[in-house]
Amino acid sequence: MKPAAGAEGFEVREARPADIANGLLETLGHLSDLEGITAAEGRAVLREMKRAGIYRLLVACSKDGSVVGATTLLVERKLIHRGGRVGHVEDVAVRVGFEGKGVGRSLVEAAVEAARDQGCYKCVLDCREGLVGYYGRLGFRRHDVGMRLDL
Ligand SMILES: CC(C)(COP(=O)(O)OP(=O)(O)OC[C@H]1O[C@@H](n2cnc3c(N)ncnc32)[C@H](O)[C@@H]1OP(=O)(O)O)[C@@H](O)C(=O)NCCC(=O)NCCS
Repeated sequence: MKPAAGAEGFEVREARPADIANGLLETLGHLSDLEGITAAEGRAVLREMKRAGIYRLLVACSKDGSVVGATTLLVERKLIHRGGRVGHVEDVAVRVGFEGKGVGRSLVEAAVEAARDQGCYKCVLDCREGLVGYYGRLGFRRHDVGMRLDL
């Protein structure tokens, strides 16, 4: 994937192992409790994701190279839709202090572009009610209902 120029000079590119300890875990901490994951464990997870071949973990980097935003695109293969592909945009997170600068928008647009490049016929995401307007401005529309079963 070619690095994309984001808003205010942020670069959006695929995550590298060095990003884990350079802002990526901190950024994801804005989204959810990281439950004490270490940098080494984070790098192992990233390696596993790359090996699986269906994940694209994208990061937005500031001028000093540290990570200020992240999202993951998961490309699902289907038998229906003649073997079509669906892009799942997951875990959009912007580092505390960097909100409202277009980082989230750049990441979602890059994930949608990557999904298009991989032949996906649609992109889907789950979000809380308060973000329906945000994703609506990025071209998404309300569709179906998210369901969950905790295991
Ligand atoms: C929500 C989040 C992804 C937005 O990213 P961001 O980089 O701060 O937002 P952007 O700069 O792309 O967009 C800013 C615009 O969106 C608007 N916006 C922000 N939150 C919004 C919301 N909940 N609903 C509607 N619009 C919203 C802002 O008002 C701003 O509007 P403007 O361009 O007219 O000034 C980010 O703040 C974040 O990581 N929050 C915590 C984690 C989270 O909730 N992730 C979403 C999981 S689905």
